[in-house]
Amino acid sequence: MRKDSTFVPLSVLNIDPESSVPIYRQLYTSLRNAILNGLLASGTQLPSTRALALELGFARGTILNAYEQLFAEGYVEGEMGGGTYVARELPDELLKAPSIQAFTLARDQSGRSLSQRGTAMASTAYASPYDLSPVRVFRPGLAALDAFPLKIWSQITARHARKRSYDLLNYGDPAGYMPLRHAIAGYLGSVRAVKCDPEQVIIVTGSQQALDLAARVLLDPGDDVLIEDPCYPGAKGALLGAGANLIPVPVDKEGLRISSEMVRSAAARMAYVTPSHQYPLGVTMSLARRLALLEWARRAKAWILEDDYDSEFRYKGRPLAALQGLDTSGCVIYIGSFSKVLFPALRVGYMVVPPDLVDGFVSARTMIDLHPPTLGQVILIDFLDEGHFGRHIRRMRELYAGRQAALVSAVEQELKGLLDVSSNEAGMYLIGWLLHGQDDQRTSEVAATYGIEAPPLSAIHRVCFSAIPHLAKMRFV
Ligand SMILES: Cc1ncc(COP(=O)(O)O)c(C=O)c1O
Repeated sequence: MRKDSTFVPLSVLNIDPESSVPIYRQLYTSLRNAILNGLLASGTQLPSTRALALELGFARGTILNAYEQLFAEGYVEGEMGGGTYVARELPDELLKAPSIQAFTLARDQSGRSLSQRGTAMASTAYASPYDLSPVRVFRPGLAALDAFPLKIWSQITARHARKRSYDLLNYGDPAGYMPLRHAIAGYLGSVRAVKCDPEQVIIVTGSQQALDLAARVLLDPGDDVLIEDPCYPGAKGALLGAGANLIPVPVDKEGLRISSEMVRSAAARMAYVTPSHQYPLGVTMSLARRLALLEWARRAKAWILEDDYDSEFRYKGRPLAALQGLDTSGCVIYIGSFSKVLFPALRVGYMVVPPDLVDGFVSARTMIDLHPPTLGQVILIDFLDEGHFGRHIRRMRELYAGRQAALVSAVEQELKGLLDVSSNEAGMYLIGWLLHGQDDQRTSEVAATYGIEAPPLSAIHRVCFSAIPHLAKMRFV
């Protein structure tokens, strides 16, 4: 044994047996990080595969796999039977692989940095926009994935795979697969009273891309945009990315509070709204406000971005038709998605744009990602045509309504006087109001220790507007 050998402290091994990442891969990553961070100095002896397997309770082959990977990449060295050591000749720059913070600092000092636009977009990033950990109950806004008819989806997928159509491998239409555009136009016309021809439907990779595309195509840096307060952070990010100057407008129980004075005076280039089910407060915009907003847009010659992200789930009352259907001046860009109604990994959404904007939007989209992936669209059209989509929506509506009723009644019984949760006519989540002015951040942390995901509303509010006073003055010229 070499003079400087020590054994690996188990604390450097960060291994989660529940993770979907194979154990050998987690072990390899932990050891590699420990070497790069200097926690395991060069020359340090690693435990034998047998000893470590015993210590950690994993199969020896698992440890062997991790060690082999480290050998292959030159992080460790040694000979059969002679022990495994952290390599003596690790390149200096590898050892100094910087942490993200160090990297950022070095980047600042180098004089090269993100653009103003990049900085504005980065400022919106919530620490982890979408939770990638295994799905648990109470995750807001996520479809009940375990109730998705995966068997039917797999059968349709297999059918397309068996056909072995070379056409599916070719580049696709930048506006999306035409049969799907037809199907969506028909669906929106009958269910949401959206007025459009299939040619006006552009398939995108989720509503987020539609928001980004609309912001890029319709805004100039410095343009004023009215935005709901609180609002969907993804919309804020996309608008800031285009250099918009955001003007928060409060939301009350009738939706965006657009006053008659604003209708007369507010000169902005665009308004972003979620009229069917305001994100995150859950209210539905009244007809009077919808008409006022359209009137404002007509006078101001402004655009309205209507984000109709989960309108399929309405449990009581008659659904109000989409704003787009009431528009007579061709100012509404309607945005929808299959993320909530089916599943988010599908990454299929759509936008309906006024006829004279179609070419501009399609050209811009071509510059970004050429076209949406074809296979998902082809499977989706069969899923729609064969009636599975309608059946799935009906089942989910019942499921979510039942879950909502169960939650409201449990809160009434167990948290009376502490939390006010009233049922909502629409959507996939509920808002709860703390009745004694408790800190919602802290309450959320405590709930998390019981496995309940209840993100604090104040965080969304902060994400949306804390940065605005200085960003609002930012001009991208
Ligand atoms: C209001 C709102 N708009 C847009 C999106 C983005 O959806 P997509 O997955 O279609 O990009 C979400 C996602 O949660 C949302 O809540």
